[in-house]
Amino acid sequence: MSMGEVSGASFTLGSAFRPGTIGDAAVARMVAVLDEQDGAPSIERLRAWALAAGDVRRGELCVDVGSGTGTMTRRLAGLAGPDGRAIGIEPNGMLREVARVRAAEVGSAAEFCQGLATEIPLPDGSADVLWCERVLQHVPDAGAAVAEFARVLRPGGRALLLDSDHESRVESDVDPAVSRAMTTAFMGQLANPTAARHIPRQAIEAGLHVDPDVGSSALVLPQEVLRDSHLSRLSAEQAVADGLITAEQAEAALAALAEAARHGWAFWAVTVFGFVCRKD
Ligand SMILES: C[S@@+](CC[C@H](N)C(=O)[O-])C[C@H]1O[C@@H](n2cnc3c(N)ncnc32)[C@H](O)[C@@H]1O
Repeated sequence: MSMGEVSGASFTLGSAFRPGTIGDAAVARMVAVLDEQDGAPSIERLRAWALAAGDVRRGELCVDVGSGTGTMTRRLAGLAGPDGRAIGIEPNGMLREVARVRAAEVGSAAEFCQGLATEIPLPDGSADVLWCERVLQHVPDAGAAVAEFARVLRPGGRALLLDSDHESRVESDVDPAVSRAMTTAFMGQLANPTAARHIPRQAIEAGLHVDPDVGSSALVLPQEVLRDSHLSRLSAEQAVADGLITAEQAEAALAALAEAARHGWAFWAVTVFGFVCRKD
């Protein structure tokens, strides 16, 4: 392994969604988290709103920054049609490979290439649409990333930026102090845990106009996910590692959430906001 790479055996919240996190087990856990979230109807509502507000059209060049398993790259490829293009920019080679395989399986024309939010391998003014969903929370210099988005957009281009603000997280059935500790531990591992609230300023400083209508939808995890949520387990493990709660408190919290989910009344949510940013 080269520096910065993490194997599956040592996978923690801190290594989740990092460009250098590799290994079958680590990638399987990241894909599981993304698939859990992809299946949430509330995320679908925000995605549909952003695609409509951004008016993604046939023939356009669409870029999906931090494309993960490529769900939205495939969707953008469908909207851009045979005369357009959709390119997923993804720094993690193993996630890029998952995205390539999934696109091939459904005959999608989505393309994937290596890059970073702060280093997009496209010329100035080349993209019509730039989609970036739940990525800026992982980027240490999100302001530089948004400036890079403005660089690659053509005049008239739209950046559709969807991101979370983890201070909005709510969780039922877990002791409130333990729940807060799990959220604190989770946020401590993210480069930019309150990503969403900074986007308007970053976009305006990059010379973009931000639509006044901001979309929002809570990522509400379904009961079947909460019976054994990867995200909650990682947060609990991190809170124990940080010395904020004991292993017993962590197990009790996960058990309480799982029990509530078996009854169908578990509730876990975090708000994701959607910004439509336009270049003159
Ligand atoms: C939570 S996932 C979201 C994936 C996808 N956008 C979605 O909504 O399903 C975060 C993604 O950002 C990628 N990522 C992390 N750091 C990045 C960076 N500096 N530049 C671009 N992508 C990055 C991760 O590899 C991962 O694919």
